[in-house]
Amino acid sequence: MYNKMERKIRASVPAKVILFGEHFVVYGKRALATAINRRLTVDVSSREKKGYHVKIENIPTFGIEMDLEVGKEDRDEKGKALLYKDYENATKAIAYVRESIRYLEERYGAGEGGVEVEIKSQIPLSAGLGSSAATCVATIAALKEYFGVSSDLEGIREDAHRIEKAVQGDASPVDTAISTYGGYVSVEKGEVRRLRLAGLNLIVGCVSSIPLSMGIDTKKVSELSLKTKKIVAEVKGRKGIFKSIFDCIFDAADEITVQAIRAIEEGDFIKLGVLMNINHGLLDAIGVVPRGLSELVKMSQASGALGAKVTGAGGLEEIGGVGSVLVLPGESGERIKTAMEIAGALGMDVKTGGEGLKIDAV
Ligand code: PMV
Repeated sequence: MYNKMERKIRASVPAKVILFGEHFVVYGKRALATAINRRLTVDVSSREKKGYHVKIENIPTFGIEMDLEVGKEDRDEKGKALLYKDYENATKAIAYVRESIRYLEERYGAGEGGVEVEIKSQIPLSAGLGSSAATCVATIAALKEYFGVSSDLEGIREDAHRIEKAVQGDASPVDTAISTYGGYVSVEKGEVRRLRLAGLNLIVGCVSSIPLSMGIDTKKVSELSLKTKKIVAEVKGRKGIFKSIFDCIFDAADEITVQAIRAIEEGDFIKLGVLMNINHGLLDAIGVVPRGLSELVKMSQASGALGAKVTGAGGLEEIGGVGSVLVLPGESGERIKTAMEIAGALGMDVKTGGEGLKIDAV
C-alpha cells in the first residue's frame, strides 16, 4: 500500500468548546459543544531519511519545539522512540501523533518510508479546547490522504476517536466529532448529533497549560495530560457521597442545555448569558472550579459580560488551576480581555460554529 509522494498534504481542524453540560454529559445528560476558529494544522510530506520526523509548534501558550524520530532504526532497545530535543514530559503532547502512526500501520498497512509531520497549533494544551482530538483528527486525516488510503469524514472521525481512546484510556466522542465536522453538536446519552445554529462571538480565557511564571515543571506538565480523567473521577467520588443532591444538580444542568439551544435559536443573548452563569454555578457546586478560573468568571461578569462559565473539565488547584472559561461578552469585550490580561490569562476572541476538517495538497 506504500505510496511515496513528493507532495505535501495539509489537514487543518478546529478547536472545540463545550458551551453547556460538561461533566453532566458523562452521566447521560445533554451537552452542547461547538467548533471555534482556532485551528491546528498538520503537514505531511516526504523526507530523505527513513522513519518519521515529527515537529510540533504550539503557538498560543508556549514555544515547545520538539523533534521526535519514530522510524524503526531510531528506536531504543525497548522499542521506544528516541528523543533528541525535548522538554522531557512534553513528549506526551505527541503521544497522539505516535499512536496515529501506529494505528495507520496496523489498520491500513500504510506508513512506510521517510515522512515529515509538522504540526502548528493555535490551540492551548490541556485547556479544555480539544487539542488532543484535533491532533488525532488532523494527523490521521493527513496521513491517510498522503498514503492514498481513501476515507470519508465518518471514517476519519472513527479512526481519530479510537486513537484518542488508545492514548487516554477513555475519551468522549465530542471532541473528535467537532474537529471532524465543525459546527455544533449536541450529545445525549453518548449519542452525538449535529445541529445547525448561528455562530456566536465569545471570548475564551485560558489559564494556560504551562504558566510561564511557574517555569517548566515537568511533573506538573505530565499531570496535565491526566487532568480531565482526574477531575471526572473526583466528581464521581462526590456524586457517590451526595447522590440525591447531585441528581438534582444534574437534572438542572440537563434542562439548562435544552433552554440554551432554544435561546441560541431565538437569538436571545440575555437569556443565554444567564444560562451560562447558572451552568457555571452548578460546575462550582460539583467542585471543578479552581480559584483562578472562578476569578476570571467573576471578573468577566463584573466587567459587563452577559454570561460567563468554566468550559471543559475545569481545573485543579494542585496543577496550577489550568483550564478555560467562556464568556459571552455583550458590549464589553475589550474591557474583559484587558482584565484577563492583567490577571495573567490568555484572552482570545473566538467565533463558534467554525468549519471542520479541511484537507489540501499544498
Ligand atoms: O476539558 P475537556 O475538553 O477534556 O472536557 C472534558 C469534558 C468532560 O465532560 C468533563 C468529560 C467528557 O468526557 O465529556
